[in-house]
Amino acid sequence: MTYEERLQNVAVLGAAGKMGSGILLLTAVEMADLALLPENKGKTFVLHAIDVSPEGLAGLMRYLRAQVRKVAEKKTVWLRKMYADRDDLVENYDIIDEYIFDVLNIVRPVTTMAAAYSANLIFEAVSENKDLKVKLLGDIDRHNENKPWFFTNTSSVPIHLIEKEAGLDGRIIGFHFYNPPAVQKLVELIVTGKTDCDVVEFALAYAKKLRKIIVPSNDFAGFIGNGHFMRDALHGIREAEALAAEKNMPLYKAIYIINKITQDYLVRPMGIFQLIDYVGIDVVKFILNVMNPFVTDEDLHSGLLDKMMEQGVKGGQMSSGAQKDGFLKYKGGRITAVWDVHKQEYVELDKFQAECDEMMGDLPASAVAWKSIIRNKKKDELLAGFFNDLKASADLGAQLAVKYGRKSKAIGEKLVSDKVANEIDHVNTVMLTGFFHAYGPVNNFFD
Ligand code: CAA
Repeated sequence: MTYEERLQNVAVLGAAGKMGSGILLLTAVEMADLALLPENKGKTFVLHAIDVSPEGLAGLMRYLRAQVRKVAEKKTVWLRKMYADRDDLVENYDIIDEYIFDVLNIVRPVTTMAAAYSANLIFEAVSENKDLKVKLLGDIDRHNENKPWFFTNTSSVPIHLIEKEAGLDGRIIGFHFYNPPAVQKLVELIVTGKTDCDVVEFALAYAKKLRKIIVPSNDFAGFIGNGHFMRDALHGIREAEALAAEKNMPLYKAIYIINKITQDYLVRPMGIFQLIDYVGIDVVKFILNVMNPFVTDEDLHSGLLDKMMEQGVKGGQMSSGAQKDGFLKYKGGRITAVWDVHKQEYVELDKFQAECDEMMGDLPASAVAWKSIIRNKKKDELLAGFFNDLKASADLGAQLAVKYGRKSKAIGEKLVSDKVANEIDHVNTVMLTGFFHAYGPVNNFFD
């Protein structure tokens, strides 16, 4: 089967979820672009968007419409060539509307799994539950005569376990996007001992068409990305708890401080508590639950996450993409309050922010903001200057940041010594391209 043939009938499971909707968008665009090529005229391309939630699927279609417009606006010259035989499409907006129609026309939103029984390629992005994944993929495989290939987006479950339990010998690969898939450049690729060479070859070709950067990870629960993120998040939680105990302050203030350290002082796109909220407290907990039985020398568990779940505070995103409240409360994308786990209510920032900022001390004048530095050619020089000033400072904020940077490096190095990642460069690329960091965690900035 050629690359095009494989992509003529595709299914995405969990299509209305955060990751599923991004995967669906990227795949729909790739399929529509193939369908527009002169050599593919007359061929049918079908993309089954499968999800249990009809409301979620309605939200997905709205998301697709808005995102495909942005995609189309960036390639009107190419689209004009593809629609050259269409005299009715004159203005750019005619062409853009036609492209949106063509992309959406490929997508079949459905709530029944049977839609995947005819697919050649199945992307799996359902929740982080091995038994559910095994059941769904095994069922589809038994009903599908095409011997389909399965691209699982699991964030943590070892691929060889799904392969074995679902009986998919050689036809499954870990193809792990990062959130949001339309923005983050990374795909982690995880093969089992049995993955067929043709599956790998197709995966590489498909990633290239999507302009993704592939980083291979070994098949160990959590892989490289969550191997780092989960430990970094647990470190953040433990630092906040330790700070609250040491300074005899309420936990919500310490959460505010550690979130600020990890964003403004470490020059990251989001602070660690905001990132936990963004991914979802429930998702982080599921991933930790999957990973923990596979590690012997550490406990990947947090009682605070359990408590947040018990209190029904879960973060995550609405189908519109808006952030739900979690550790932090958001208004128009901005943080306005922090959850007080003892009183079970949000405490507005204006009640305590100034006091916490004063405790941390002023950021050095050399401080740089993530957004302004991410594409700056002098990035490394500017970061080195800022981090040197942090190392030289006796302020609480600076000291916490340097300690955090060192921990992040140690986590990265351990991923290599534990043989999850083959090399340091892979760890750094994952954090640069999957988490949009401005610099890799294994660096000399904090030595
Ligand atoms: N779909 C499509 N585009 C999106 C989007 C989405 N869901 N979310 C944001 N964007 C686009 C915006 O439209 C905007 O595009 P333009 O530049 O064309 O206007 C662009 O991304 C930047 O967005 P914003 O200006 O709103 O905000 P920002 O500059 O702060 O970037 C962000 C937003 C890309 C999410 C950035 O904050 C970021 O990268 N944060 C870190 C996210 C992260 O760490 N992700 C990995 C999570 S872990 C994971 O995914 C693995 C796992 O298994 C759990």
